[in-house]
Amino acid sequence: MVYDLHIFVCTNERKGNERLSCGETHGLELVAAFKKELKDLNINLKTRANKSGCLGICYFGPTIAIYPEGTFYVGVKVTDVPEIIESHIKTGKKVERLLLKQ
Ligand code: FES
Repeated sequence: MVYDLHIFVCTNERKGNERLSCGETHGLELVAAFKKELKDLNINLKTRANKSGCLGICYFGPTIAIYPEGTFYVGVKVTDVPEIIESHIKTGKKVERLLLKQ
């Protein structure tokens, strides 16, 4: 299957290092939450959630990236997942409060 959107969730774990990494906070829970929300939608969305390595903006994590458009959300919590799915994935309206500020 060819997907229209991929949600990459950073699950990188940098154990023993002072730098924060997403996998040590909520990375794996986020992947599970996105997969569950997408499945529960039960509509014909060609969207897939995947684990990802470091997305390069660790300090603001947990971080996700939505492609092909290249939207980055930071500080994402499991409780934010329904809003991201409902707003961004279903209607294309980005969740402003979670966007990576340039
Ligand atoms: S560890 Fe998640 S963005 Fe680097």
